[in-house]
Amino acid sequence: MKDPRAFDFDGDYGEEYKELASRVIPGYDEFFVATLALLQERLDKEARLLVVGCGTGRELEVFAPSTRDWRFDCIDPSRSMIEYSRQVAQRLGVYSRVRFHNCYAHELDLDYRFDAATVINVMHFLLDDGSKDVLIQSVAQRVKQGGTIVLFDLHGDPSKAYFKLFYRAWIRYMDLRGYTGKKKDRLLKRLEAGIAYVGEDRIMEICQTAGLKLIRPYWGGLLYTGWIFERL
Ligand SMILES: C[S@@+](CC[C@H](N)C(=O)[O-])C[C@H]1O[C@@H](n2cnc3c(N)ncnc32)[C@H](O)[C@@H]1O
Repeated sequence: MKDPRAFDFDGDYGEEYKELASRVIPGYDEFFVATLALLQERLDKEARLLVVGCGTGRELEVFAPSTRDWRFDCIDPSRSMIEYSRQVAQRLGVYSRVRFHNCYAHELDLDYRFDAATVINVMHFLLDDGSKDVLIQSVAQRVKQGGTIVLFDLHGDPSKAYFKLFYRAWIRYMDLRGYTGKKKDRLLKRLEAGIAYVGEDRIMEICQTAGLKLIRPYWGGLLYTGWIFERL
């Protein structure tokens, strides 16, 4: 049984996340730049972006300085992650363009719709018991028709032969990237307990049901993929 609490973003994990993400997620740093490039192609000079699961503020860090007329609503159920992101916005001098919401996507009560939303490194923590569906539906409902949704997730079908190969290769990748010892052991335990893997076909089903049309997968590294969708 998976336990979503294995990753406690209000506990010690949040602090570790920045270093971990850059070392353990293949192409993590470049991914945000590629995502910004795509979003800039899709969005107007003035746009409103919903950042779901803002965590340590990476989206803000990469997107906000290059997009002077974009405004951001950042949501996260973890109070300490919201605080972390708030400090990032202050440090970058973009605070006046950002609003923070300490809540889940389905709790966000706004009287307008966004031009785009990002859901980056969030959905894999949610069980496939309807929680993944609720997340994507809540995001889709808050994006304009014709708007853009970016999803980046750790995924794969553990019953398929490729999964073991890719999972083992990922563990090897951590070694090659210098993420070793107790930190790595701790992470592997959390991954075992806390990631609710599903295959890509299931992810597409969730997104299509929520009214999202796939434009194209645009990023991939081992068990991670980034997809860009249009809201129908
Ligand atoms: C791994 S961090 C990702 C942060 C950032 N998007 C990135 O990729 O660097 C995941 C964040 O999602 C948040 N989160 C977990 N469940 C969520 C949910 N149902 N809705 C929104 N955010 C959630 C966590 O609190 C955490 O801050």
